[in-house]
Amino acid sequence: TKVSNIRNFSIIAHIDHGKSTLADRILEVTGLVDERQKREQFLDRLDLERERGITIKAQAVRIPYKANDGQEYTLNLIDTPGHVDFSYEVSRSLASCEGALLVVDATQGVEAQTLANVYLALDHDLEVIPVLNKIDLPSAEPDRIRQEIEETIGLDASTALEVSAKTGVGVPAVLEAIVKDLPPPKGDPDAPLRARVFDSWYDSYQGVVVLFRVVDGTVAPGDPIRMMSTKKEFEVTQLGIFSPDAVQVKRLSVGEVGFLTASIKELQDARVGDTITHAKKPADKPLSGFKPVKAMVFCGLYPTEPSEYEALKSALEKLQLNDAAFNFEPETSQALGFGFRAGFLGMLHMEIIQERLEREFEANLITTAPTVVYKVETVQGGTLFIDNPAKLPDPSEIAVFSEPYVRMEIHAPGEYVGNIFKLCEEKRGLQKDVRYLSSNRVIITYELPFAEIVFDFFDRLKSATRGYASLDYEIIDYRPADLVKLDMLINGEPVDALSTIIHRDKAQQQGRAIALKLKKSIPRQLFEVVVQASIGQKIIARERNPPMRKNVTAKCYGGDITRKRKLLEKQKAGKKRMKRMGNVEIPQEAFLAALRTN
Ligand code: GTP
Repeated sequence: TKVSNIRNFSIIAHIDHGKSTLADRILEVTGLVDERQKREQFLDRLDLERERGITIKAQAVRIPYKANDGQEYTLNLIDTPGHVDFSYEVSRSLASCEGALLVVDATQGVEAQTLANVYLALDHDLEVIPVLNKIDLPSAEPDRIRQEIEETIGLDASTALEVSAKTGVGVPAVLEAIVKDLPPPKGDPDAPLRARVFDSWYDSYQGVVVLFRVVDGTVAPGDPIRMMSTKKEFEVTQLGIFSPDAVQVKRLSVGEVGFLTASIKELQDARVGDTITHAKKPADKPLSGFKPVKAMVFCGLYPTEPSEYEALKSALEKLQLNDAAFNFEPETSQALGFGFRAGFLGMLHMEIIQERLEREFEANLITTAPTVVYKVETVQGGTLFIDNPAKLPDPSEIAVFSEPYVRMEIHAPGEYVGNIFKLCEEKRGLQKDVRYLSSNRVIITYELPFAEIVFDFFDRLKSATRGYASLDYEIIDYRPADLVKLDMLINGEPVDALSTIIHRDKAQQQGRAIALKLKKSIPRQLFEVVVQASIGQKIIARERNPPMRKNVTAKCYGGDITRKRKLLEKQKAGKKRMKRMGNVEIPQEAFLAALRTN
C-alpha cells in the first residue's frame, strides 16, 4: 500500500466500555474474521485476560479495507492494555499510531481511565475520534455524554459517532471516519531504519517475537539489526504481519506495522519502547520516549513445601520469559525458608502473576506483604532503595527515610464525595483538586503515599462508593516521612516475613490489628502462643492463645470411624498450607489475615 493509504489507530476506553467488542466488530465488518472465530474475542489472548476482562498484551492486526471512495486502505489496529499498571505499554502503543478511537459507554460517561488514556493520546498528538458506544441500550444518553466529553476533555464531540458494538449499528461509519479523519503516517523511506518496539513476547519455537512500527526506512528478512538501547545486534529471520493470522512479508516500510524474529533469546533484548535500526546503516538518534519499565511493588513468594522450590523457580522463569516487567531473585527468610523476592508494576500485575502461578503452574504459594520501594539516605551519605523491610539498615544509620507518592484521580457520583474524602484522609492523602462535572459527577485529585494504596485501597474505595468510582494514578516523587519498621514476634521470635515498613502514627494500630488477626488464625497448640508487635526493642501490642487441652480426635473415639478419618484428612489438608515457625505451625490464612488491615 501507498503510505497515504495507511491508517494506524488504537482504541482507547475505560474498562468495560466495549473496546474488545468494537475491535471484534471491525474485524467482522471488514471480513477479516469469520463467524466461527468471532465467538472468541479475537484480540484477547489469555484465558485469564478474558476472565478478568482486561487486555494485558498489546497486539496489532492489519485490516485491508475498501472505502466508499473506492480506494484500498490498510488499517492497522494496535491494541493497548487497559489497566493503569500498564500505562507505559499503552503509551508506546499510542506512540505508534496517528489516531485513536475514544470509546465511551453512552450509558456511563467519561471515567478515570478514559481521561488518562485520552491525555496520553493527546500527548502524542494523536487525532481522536469520539465514539459513543452501547446506543442500543435504552439507558443510553448520547447527548448528555457528548456534553460531558466536551466539558471534561475539551474535544469537539458534536460529530461523535453513535455506535452499538454489540449489534454492529454505526460500525461502517467508524471505518469511514478512520480513513477520512485520521492522517496517514509520515516518515522518510530513504532514511536509515528506525522502528519502534511496542510489544514483545517469548515464543518457545521462535524465541522473542517483536512487534514494531516502522517510522523511517525499510526492513527485510536477512537484514542485520541493532537494538539502540542495548546496542545488541541480530539478523532478521522472519518478518511478517498479523491479519489476523501471521503472514510472512518481504519488507516493511514507512508507517507499516509488523513483527520480526531474529534469534533473540531474551525479552530484555527487545524491550518495549526501544528503537530498532539497521546495524550497518544505523540512525543517529533513537526515537524518543524509551524508558525501561521499573518494578514498583515487591513481595516475597515462597513455596508452602520446601520440595516445591525448584518447581516454583521454573514457573517464575517461564512467566518472566513473557513479561519483561516482572522480575525476581532468590531470597531466604528465617521464617519461610528459601523463596523469591518478586517485583511488579503494581497491584494488579502482582495479582495476575500470583494467580497464574497458582492456576497454570499449580504452585502452592505463601506470599508476604506487598511493599513499595522506599528510599533511604544514610548518615554516611549513601542512597539505598529498599524493596524488603528485612534489608532496612538500623535506624541509627538512617538520615532521611522517604516514600513514593502517587497523584490519584478518582471519578465518582457526587453523593460519595464525603466517603472518598474520608478514605483518602485516612490514607494520609493531600487533597489537590475537586472538580464537579455536573451535580452527579466529580473528579477528585489527591496526592497519596503509594504504600497506602497498595494494601486495601481499591476494595475500600469500591465499598465506599458501591462500585461507582473509577481511578487512575501515577507515581510522582519521593517524600520524607516518619517511617518505622514494625516487627511481629511469635513466642519471642521475630517472623521476618511479617515485618513491614509503616508510618509511625499508624504503627500502634496496625501492630494491634495484626497481632489480633494472627492470634485468631493460628490454630491453638498444646502450649501457649504469644504474639507481639514491636518497633525496635519496644513492644507495642501483645496477644496470647492459651494452650489447647484436648486432642481433637478424642471426641471421636468409640464413634464413627469414617468421621474420624475425615477429620484427620481435613487436618492433613490444612497442614499442606502451613509453615512451621520455631515450634508453631502457621497457616497461610494467618499470613493473609495479617496482611489485611482494615
Ligand atoms: P476491557 O477489555 O476490560 O478493557 O473491556 P472492553 O472495553 O474491551 O469491554 P468489552 O468489549 O469486553 O465489553 C464490556 C461489556 O459490554 C461486554 O459484556 C459487552 O458484551 C458489552 N458491550 C459492548 N458493546 C456493547 C454495545 O454496543 N451494546 C451493549 N448492549 N453491550 C455492549
